[in-house]
Amino acid sequence: MTASDTTLFPPEIESFRHQIDAQLEIYSRLDADCPEHLREAIRYCLLAPGKRIRPLLVLTAAKMCGGDLANAMPAACAVEMIHNYSLIHDDLPAMDDDELRRGRATCHVKFGEATAILAGDSLIPMAFGILAHDIQPAEIANQCITRLALASGPTRLVGGQADDLNLQFAASSVESLEHIHRRKTGALLTVSLEMGAITASADAELLESLIKYGRNLGLAFQIVDDLLDLRGSQAKMGKRIGKDAALGKQTYPAVLGEAASEERAHQMVEAAIDALQPFGEQAKALELLANFVVNRTQ
Ligand code: IPE
Ligand code: IPE
Ligand code: MG
Ligand code: MG
Ligand code: MG
Repeated sequence: MTASDTTLFPPEIESFRHQIDAQLEIYSRLDADCPEHLREAIRYCLLAPGKRIRPLLVLTAAKMCGGDLANAMPAACAVEMIHNYSLIHDDLPAMDDDELRRGRATCHVKFGEATAILAGDSLIPMAFGILAHDIQPAEIANQCITRLALASGPTRLVGGQADDLNLQFAASSVESLEHIHRRKTGALLTVSLEMGAITASADAELLESLIKYGRNLGLAFQIVDDLLDLRGSQAKMGKRIGKDAALGKQTYPAVLGEAASEERAHQMVEAAIDALQPFGEQAKALELLANFVVNRTQ
């Protein structure tokens, strides 16, 4: 089963998901110098049935800014690779210690811890190599590399993950929680939109409105993830639920309560959609993705 064997969206967006899957498959055909078990582990994770939200944001933003999808596709695949590496490492025993991801055994359960670490490691240079090599012109490739490096680095994704683990047993405020969520999850969602706009050579106004959309969507995304950990279905989510409370994680529902968290997620999604005004009618696909994020069950 691949990501696009499940239908989550209307046909136009599903067609993007098929194209993303096809390109990820091509990008993960590593040559014979990559050991077989490592290639297998990389493909097992990367081609597993994920929602592909981040690459969909890249392609949709590029389309809305009048860009060429062929130039946005490398950025779409690169962000999915960074996301996948972060999931493989997030599931390791030293982090969240999970056995189930995307409805399958996690990478370290299936291939062993060392191979899981190395599969995650592999996806980082693969992502940056694709940006450098496949996006034209070099100036646009360079901007994508710079922004993805920032979003996935120690002041954003990795820093958020570090604080998520450190705060696990400490009391937390909504402010510190928001600070974590914006970095561990929001940054990668926001940079997806930025890269889509940049590959389409969008002007500053459109780029700003997409960044605003991304910041709000990113926070809503993790609030909903926290809520689903509390009351979602393991079968639908494809990952173990109830684990945040078991690990003593600081989550929105733990700090604010379920109802207030839900309200906050809805407010964030409204703010995200509001930010799309400069796009007029063109904003439909991103509105749909935002509504999906807040109402999702997977
Ligand atoms: C899960 O992300 C990790 C979080 C940032 C909450 P997704 O919910 O996008 O996972 P996949 O890619 O669909 O598996
Ligand atoms: C993970 O957040 C965010 C990442 C950067 C991977 P979670 O730990 O809540 O993600 P899940 O619930 O395991 O997918
Ligand atoms: Mg985690
Ligand atoms: Mg986790
Ligand atoms: Mg979670």
